[in-house]
Amino acid sequence: MYMKTIPAKLKSFIRDNSIIARSPGRINLIGEHTDYNEGFVLPAAIDKAAYFVLTPRNDNAIKLFAVDLEKGFETTTDNVQKIKNAWPNYILGVVAQFQKRGINVSGFDAALMADVPIGAGLSSSAAVECATAIALDKLCNTSLDRFTLVKMAQKAEHEFAGVQCGIMDQFASAFGKSGYAIRLDCRSLEYEYEPLDMAGIKIVLFDSNVKHSLASTEYNTRRQQCEEGVALISRHYPEIKSLRDVTLSMLNEHVKEKKPLVYQRCKYVIEENQRLLAACEDLQKNDLHAFGKKMYRSHNGLSKEYEVSCTELDFLVDCVKNSPDVFGARMMGGGFGGCTINLVKEEAVESLSKKITEDYYKHTKKELKTYIAQTDDGSSLINAK
Ligand code: GLA
Repeated sequence: MYMKTIPAKLKSFIRDNSIIARSPGRINLIGEHTDYNEGFVLPAAIDKAAYFVLTPRNDNAIKLFAVDLEKGFETTTDNVQKIKNAWPNYILGVVAQFQKRGINVSGFDAALMADVPIGAGLSSSAAVECATAIALDKLCNTSLDRFTLVKMAQKAEHEFAGVQCGIMDQFASAFGKSGYAIRLDCRSLEYEYEPLDMAGIKIVLFDSNVKHSLASTEYNTRRQQCEEGVALISRHYPEIKSLRDVTLSMLNEHVKEKKPLVYQRCKYVIEENQRLLAACEDLQKNDLHAFGKKMYRSHNGLSKEYEVSCTELDFLVDCVKNSPDVFGARMMGGGFGGCTINLVKEEAVESLSKKITEDYYKHTKKELKTYIAQTDDGSSLINAK
């Protein structure tokens, strides 16, 4: 049982029989838009999380309350459906997954709070889904294994939030470990913890404060374009089922001329997978200069080839690109807003953040937020006592 302190504002919702779950947000060091292509990712759970206090009821009502938003939502267990308001979907979507498995979910009250910034690309939605999943697992006494819970949380995102996301966010939220990043093979789901002992270096997130409404439609479009690339190749190589097995020469031969845009998208994904594997070797050798260079290349690919960046994120990466205090930087997550992730010399964090905040405001008229990401453990139940 995790012994973290429960946010003060949640305490009044806790009863003797309450189940309290915590699940963190995530960063991703490298390997973006590779998860749904059966590639590799390198995320870590962070010290910002969603907290979910669930109290069983004797009837079939589901009464949800979002403490930060001061908003409630009510339904019943026989009427769990996708709704228009966004936040209840992350909870209801998980309830629906339990019900789809024939599990009887009784009524409950739930209070939700998160200190993961919403819409910043730190996977606040996956944090809520995973917290809900482990709380419901306890409520229903199902003892489902963690992979199953992760997949149910991912399905909730597909079916209730409408984003055809890969598995990275929910996986990182559930499997995170303090002091480590996780190298996950999204095809086999085999994973390894990579120690992140970067003495004197901080992982700094610059939050652009931008969230473009395009994000989810463009995300789903990118996924389709990758599938289109695979379909063109598998006509010639029927054994190929994902971009994981596609080589650049196959792409050049069978996609480049027919579908230049699909080619561009697929090329980025293939190269990003190769970059990630090489970057893990850099990490093992503690060569952060080499690692950082790959982050910049990853950003360039995301911006110019995969086209999921935006002017604000590009500006933030350009600002640090020539700084001797920054090893590497890139946009992080789905894109079209959210944060950049930067590896920064500890002694320079404050002055750099001040300068970028000023420059960003001058350039965009938007406020920049800076977070220092600390790695942390993944989802767990919390003991209130
Ligand atoms: C979002 C999705 C993830 C992943 C990233 C891009 O965060 O939820 O599954 O695809 O975008 O790497």
